[in-house]
Amino acid sequence: MRRKIELYLYRAESLFWENWLGIRTRTTRLPYERSRDAEHKIYTPTIYRTIFRVLRSLPLKAEDVFVDLGCGKGRVVCCAAYLGAAQVIGVEYVKELHDIALNNAERMRRRQSPISISLGEVEDFDFSLGTVFFMFNSFGRKTIESILTKMEDGLRKNPREIRIAYVNPVYGLAMKERPWLERYGFWRRFDVVMLWRSKLDRQS
Ligand SMILES: C[S@@+](CC[C@H](N)C(=O)[O-])C[C@H]1O[C@@H](n2cnc3c(N)ncnc32)[C@H](O)[C@@H]1O
Repeated sequence: MRRKIELYLYRAESLFWENWLGIRTRTTRLPYERSRDAEHKIYTPTIYRTIFRVLRSLPLKAEDVFVDLGCGKGRVVCCAAYLGAAQVIGVEYVKELHDIALNNAERMRRRQSPISISLGEVEDFDFSLGTVFFMFNSFGRKTIESILTKMEDGLRKNPREIRIAYVNPVYGLAMKERPWLERYGFWRRFDVVMLWRSKLDRQS
């Protein structure tokens, strides 16, 4: 019974936000939504209440450049653009999902920020850009390690504070092993979430 009520509330919440923002990001399994391997997870959107809790807890600021690594249909980027940042970027390697994200970004209502959706592997992203990175268990350990190394290189090229929100942090340990990162937030309500930030004194 409790599970049924939760499911009902979850659907109602999704419907509300999808209509409020004028986007369509809910899961429908399509042939292209197949995992290529253990490193590349299939599309599953983060639930709205987790997204908004993360964005408010970071907190997302007007001067931030927000990047969703593995943006799927663009739910998280649209929520970030609704709350407002200097720029919002989504990176997605599945062409069909990229196109849907682009369509959602273009047609969304109440957008406060410009959105760009980039087609490609997250590892090819220019990590000297971005101040806030969002990941929802989208990759395996190898990809996470590679992203963290590129983020560190990006900090050397362009020293700044970066923050990382990791939802369902299966490879959270990989982040703990990086001395330039410190954890500043953690909770396990609805989803497990970790918030990390770069230590400014470790950038050289
Ligand atoms: C679990 S979904 C998360 C979607 C979105 N970030 C959200 O929270 O609603 C993971 C997404 O990452 C994409 N993805 C997985 N590996 C990727 C990679 N190496 N480069 C770019 N996108 C990737 C998948 O196609 C999928 O759309």
